[in-house]
Formats: sequence, structure tokens, C-alpha cells
Amino acid sequence: MNSNDIRKTYLDFFEGHGHAVFPSSSLVPVGDPTVLFTTAGMQQFKPYFSGEKAAPHPRIATAQKCVRTSDIESVGDDSHLTFFEMLGNFAFDDYFKRQSIEFAWELLIDRLGLERGRMWATCFGGEGIVPRDTDSFEIWQEVGVPAERIRFFGRADNFWGPTGGSGACGPDTEIHYELRPAAPGHDCSGPNCECERFLELWNLVFNEFFQDIGGKLTPLESVGVDTGAGLERWAVLLQDKPNIYETDLFAVIRSSAADALGGASDASNGGERPLRIIAEHSRSAVFMLADGVLPGNEGRGYVLRRLIRRAVGQARLAGRLEPFLGGVAEATIEVMGRFYPEVVDRRHHILTVVEEEEERFSRTLDRGLSLVQAKITELGDSTIIDGKSAFLFHDTYGVPLDLVKDVAGSAGLSVDEAGFAVAMERQRELSRAGTSGVESTLPNGLPPSQFIGYGGMTSGDGEIVAILSGGEQVSSIDEGAEGLLVISETPFYSEAGGQVGDTGTISGGDFEFRVTDTQRNAEGTTFHIGTVVTGSGRSGDPVACAVDATRRMDVARNHTATHLVHAALREVLGEQVRQSGSLVAADHLRFDFNHGDSLSPEEIAAVERRVNRNVLAAIQVSTEEREVREAVEGGALALFGEAYGDIVRVVTINEVSVELCGGTHLRDTAGIGSFAIIREESVGSGLRRVVAVTGRAAVDSSRARMESIRETAAALNAPIEDVTERVRRLLEENSEHRRELDRLRQRIANQQVDAVVAKSEILSGFSVVTEQIDVDDSSTLRVLSDSLRFKLGDDWAFLIGAVVDGRPLFFAAASESAVGAGANAGKIVETAAKTTGGGGGGRPEMANGGGRDASRLMDGLKAGRQALLKSLGA
Ligand code: SER
Repeated sequence: MNSNDIRKTYLDFFEGHGHAVFPSSSLVPVGDPTVLFTTAGMQQFKPYFSGEKAAPHPRIATAQKCVRTSDIESVGDDSHLTFFEMLGNFAFDDYFKRQSIEFAWELLIDRLGLERGRMWATCFGGEGIVPRDTDSFEIWQEVGVPAERIRFFGRADNFWGPTGGSGACGPDTEIHYELRPAAPGHDCSGPNCECERFLELWNLVFNEFFQDIGGKLTPLESVGVDTGAGLERWAVLLQDKPNIYETDLFAVIRSSAADALGGASDASNGGERPLRIIAEHSRSAVFMLADGVLPGNEGRGYVLRRLIRRAVGQARLAGRLEPFLGGVAEATIEVMGRFYPEVVDRRHHILTVVEEEEERFSRTLDRGLSLVQAKITELGDSTIIDGKSAFLFHDTYGVPLDLVKDVAGSAGLSVDEAGFAVAMERQRELSRAGTSGVESTLPNGLPPSQFIGYGGMTSGDGEIVAILSGGEQVSSIDEGAEGLLVISETPFYSEAGGQVGDTGTISGGDFEFRVTDTQRNAEGTTFHIGTVVTGSGRSGDPVACAVDATRRMDVARNHTATHLVHAALREVLGEQVRQSGSLVAADHLRFDFNHGDSLSPEEIAAVERRVNRNVLAAIQVSTEEREVREAVEGGALALFGEAYGDIVRVVTINEVSVELCGGTHLRDTAGIGSFAIIREESVGSGLRRVVAVTGRAAVDSSRARMESIRETAAALNAPIEDVTERVRRLLEENSEHRRELDRLRQRIANQQVDAVVAKSEILSGFSVVTEQIDVDDSSTLRVLSDSLRFKLGDDWAFLIGAVVDGRPLFFAAASESAVGAGANAGKIVETAAKTTGGGGGGRPEMANGGGRDASRLMDGLKAGRQALLKSLGA
């Protein structure tokens, strides 16, 4: 049975039993910001189990793409994976334990022909408010598993969920298959024994509880069934293979990885393990890329980057220097594309990113590895690389810990992994505190601020809650001092979601504070950053806040335009395009997105046209607050890798775009005025950026461009409409002139060459020329010396000189035979050039150089000639 047959048998079986077959959902979970990846088949059904939503069908079956990173260290053994497929059947307030167990039994025994006598089961033994699962124990015996082959376990083994921060969960029963008899002398404890005599085949979860964020369990109103079976394990069993890499799911991918490492896997390249890691990680990477994840330094992007880098690192350690990952990714696309068309559809994107990331990493890897080597040398008597250094290699130089360990290991050293973990955790804390450097240095422990600027407000009254100056909290701040003010209620927007912080003034009485930036810390306190212009301010003072309204308006134009750009790019380039970053400033906007190629002029024009069409249509922009899952399921675009709170702000541009966004926007798109893309460029593997302007800046930019066209037209003495044609003609004429010039040079050169050849003398059997030539550019001199070599026959040597742009230039060359006799063009030029106050040199066959004093050209030629004659013994 190949893997496609296994999937099909599973899904057909459950379809035959009244299940709707649903497609796999994306590896990037929708509407669940608490998890990075889809880790189980039930992920997409979470709200149906918890009762938040009604299920679309009471029974569903899927083959689901999953990623779990918990086993990443074990990848390379016979069975652990980061990417795997989970076969699952689900019931929502429908069948329960008996039916699930009977279905499983029928499929495994009657349809797939596995042996009854080797089936074991495990059940939940009871803990806390969840009782012992005696129901399952009874049912298993009824279907045919004797009591002695049923074991009870605790919460760690036989209770599942929830996935993410909260959700449905419950006791489960697992089916284990006895692979072989117990080893003699080993007292095997049965399923879950570390001797690996048993293979866990299937997990049947009975969702009876809801677990909240605090870990508290409450019974669900209606129960559900969530089962999951690893396709790869079933393939091992049904194809009778010793490990997953020999099943049809992996064989081709594995051998492509083996090719990358030069064929055989032997001890010289580390055996099977490196190539298994390469095969497994490449497969994971292909699926992540197909679902829109891009290599990065955080969240999903970081996981993807780690997998790619680990694969590349393994190959490098096994001696592979050339790029190879694209080939392994192609093998993966070929194998997996039969069931998952998205990997075929996004093939180009996947390969581009994989190859770029590999290339980029290879460049840093060499430097990184040499730093690791240097560290090892520097260690002296110590046998351990400290955690901080290991983290530096990992974080700054991109050498993964696994690789540092490998390198250290081969020198008989170890790495302080605990120290590494500490350094890593410290870094995580910093990045959790915020993404911009400023944010993480803002103090905590102050009251959160109320933002009153939604709805277009740019002024309002508040009270100074706190003042920071000179790095500490103070009670007042005086004229001339720089500082940070916290105000109870503020219309100032603090930098977030790419939108820059507001500027403006805060005043009260004679106190005036000029705000040059606004930032917020992770706790939601807003800091107005600036300088006191006049007077002094005290904590508790009432103040009036006034944002620079024109600037805010410019920012709003750019922000609303950013959403239109996002929508237009998706229309022009395809739905897979997603924003990966943006900057919304007053004078321009920057939009980064995933796309493999640069945009053609036609694509840029199409995006511009669409945005401007929507500007002219004066479409209404509205905002509302909604629950995150509801918003995302309603089609709102959320950013990859962005964590959202439970309640989100949704910005809708009617019929054009719906996005989760906390920024300030226009009321309708007409306010953008005009839109123009001024630049398009690459910003990393598979990442493009467009830079655009709106409103006054767009008008200014078109005017500036128009002005330069007008000037060009004036210089050409042509009407504007004719500029392109005229320039094209000029360029043509120009290249025609250049060709003509070359022809003339050649002719002059030929004439002179004939004259020069006529003056050659025979010395020691060689035709020798040392002459001044009358040319006025170095190109002609070169052309001339070329034809001179040709015309002098077989045995010759020459030195020619000319004054070009007021400087003496020399050219010398010698035939093979002359070089054999001792002539050296390099030396000759050197002598000549030195005489005229310069230098030069080259090979014995050919050389050139120049001097300073043109009046000494003849002296230079004479000196060079002496040197030449001497070397030829003439
Ligand atoms: N959610 C369970 C698991 O992942 C069963 O599908 O094992």
C-alpha cells in the first residue's frame, strides 16, 4: 500500500460512515494567535469542540499537515519528525467512545488486515475530577482485546489537550501494535515501554472538558471525538519497512539528500543521520513555505530558518560545499505534490526562497565556523565552550547550536547548553518586550494610557501622570530639558504596526513641550518624547495635547493607502501575497511582502492603477472592534507571526480590504488624493518591497518628474510628446557614432602601424620597434599595439609610447621566442615609465604603464630600448 492508498483508504472508510471529508487546513493556524503551527488535526475544529461555534457537519475526516518542533532534536532516528501528516476522524455532539473504538477496530483489522493478536490498548486511569475510563476498558474487551492487553496510564499519557492556551480536552485511549516479542531477559512493561517493542498507532480523544487559561477544567455541554493517527507510522507498518525514510513518503527525498552528500551514507560523512535530517527538514521547509511562512528571526520564520540552516549545516559538516537544497526541495514537491497541490502551485516561490536562504547562510556559515574554530583554539586548557559564546555564534553569526556542538565534539569539547539556554531566554524576554529598540528601554510599572485619537481627534485634555528625564522618574521638568511625559488621556498615536508615532505639543499655562516622537511599552503606557520649549511641567498638572494635524493626516493617507496596496498586490500577483512588514510615515510608505521575483513595470503599473482607481472611487473606510477568531474567519487579513489580543480592531475598506489594524485611517479613500510607487526592490529571500507616496508627496513627486521631462524636452528642443522617440533616436545615433569612431581609430592605427613596421630593425634575429606614436587616446594605442604584434611576424619585441591627455603612456610586448631569449615587457615598461616619473609593469609577454612628464617621453623610450636590447644581448 503506498501512502496515497493509505490516505485514501482512511478517508473513504470514514466517508462511508457518514463523515464529510475536509481538506487539510494551513500549517499557519487561522484565528488562534496562541499557537505557532497547526500541530493536530483538531486545530481547525477547536471552536466546534469548545462549543463556541456550531460544527458545519457532525462527522468530519481529514488528512492534516502538522508541524511539531518538540522532537526536533530526535530527528534523524527511525521515526521522529517535525512535519507529519495526521489522519483523523472527528465527531461533534455525535458518536462517542463505543463508535470511535469500533470504527478504529474495523479499519485496522478488517480493512487493513493488521493482526488482532498484536493489538494492545491504553486507557485513562483517572486523576482529579476526571474519573477512570472504565467505559473504554469495557468496549475494548467487547471488540476483542483481552483485559491483560489493556493498560491504564495517567494524565501524561492518556489525557489530551488542550492545544494552545485554552480549549477542549479529555481522556484518550491509544492503540498500540506489538512489533516483536519481548527481548529475552528484558522485563517489558507493555505499551509506552522504552524498549520500543510497541508502536503507537492511533489516539482516540474524548473531549469532555474545557480547560481555561488558568488550567481549570469544566465539563463541556456536548462531548466530542478527536482522533489522530500518524500517516508515516502507518506507512512503516503497512509497507513493512524498518523506518520512515524507507517508506514511499521519504525514499525519493532521502535519496536526493544522499546524492547531495555524494551518494553513499558512510562513516566519512556521518552515516545516515545527516541525510535524514536534510530530507526531513527540507520536507518541513517546503510545506511551511507553501503556507506563506518566510525565513525570519522570530516565531514561525525562526523555526523555518532553523530547519533550513540545520540542513545546510549538516551538509557542510559532511563536506558538501555546493548548493543542494533546491534539489531536495524539488524531490519533496514531486513526492508530496500528488496530494498537496499547494506545493506544486508555489514551486517557484519555494525554490527561490530555499535557494536564497541557503546561499545567504552559506556565506555567513564559513565566517561563523571559523569564529567557532578560533574560539576553540583560544580555549587553552578548558574543555567547554561557554553558553554566551555559543549563543553569540547562533544569534549573530547564524551557526546553529547543533552545529557548534558538532564542531566542538570533533575537537573533544562540549558546549555549556544550560548557559546557552539562559542567554537565549534573556534574548526572548527582550524581544517579547517589544520589537523596536526604543520600546524595550521604556520603563514599566506606569499606568497604561488611554488613546483618544481614533475617529480623527488630534487634540484633547489630560493630566501629566509621570515625567522621566535623565533616565529616571522626576516630579517636574524645566525649560530646555529633554524628557518623556506620560499623560492620562492622549490623542498622540504611539508607534505601532508600522505607523510612526505622532508629533505635536503638550502645553498648560506657560509650559510648552515639543513632542518629537511617541512610543509605547509592552504594558501599554504611552511616552511622549521631546523637549520643554518654555516654562516647567509638574506631575499632576492639567495639560492640553495637540497633535500636528497635517502630519497625522499625511500619515493616515499613507496608512489607508497601505491597505489598498496590500489588496492590489494580492489581485495582481495572487492571493498568496501577504504583508510581512510596513512603514507608514508622513512622507512615504513602505510595504514588504512575500514574492519571489521583482515586479515588472507592467505589474507596478497595474498595482498603481488599481490603487488610484480605488482612491478616485472615494470608498468608505470603517473600523470596528471584534473578537479575533470571528474577524479572521470573516476574512480579515491578519499578519503572519503577529500575536493579537482577543479583541481586535478591524479596518474595512468596502469591498476592497478587511484587515486587523490598530492604526489611524482616513474616513474615505479619496483623501489619499493621488498615489505613486517610487521604488521596488528586494529586501531578502523571497521578500520584496515597494516604496510609495500619496497626497502632497505624490503630487510633488509627479511634478518633479514632470519638471525633469520638461527640462529634457527643452534641451532636446522637442515637444514633450516626442521626448521618448527623440532620446531613442539619439541613443541609436550615439552607438552609430561610436562604431564609426572605432573604425576611424582602427584606420589610423593601421596607417601608423605600417609606418612603424617599416622602421623596425633586426637585432639578434628579432624585429625590434621602439617608437613614439601619434594618437590621442589610450584605446587607439591598444588597437595599434594589437595589430603591431600581428604584423611583426614570429620573432619580435616592441615598446611604443604616446602622449595622451598630457601624460606619457607606454606599451610593450614580446613574442614567445623573444621572451625565451630574455626579453621582458614588464621590465621594459617599468624602465620607460620610471624615466618619465611614473610606474607600470605586467607580464614578460605584455605590459603597460604611464609617467608624469610628457616632455621626457623620448627619454623613456630610449631607456626602455636600452633595457630591451640588453635583455636580448644585442
Ligand atoms: N489531538 C490528538 C492528537 O494530536 C488526536 O488527534 O494526538
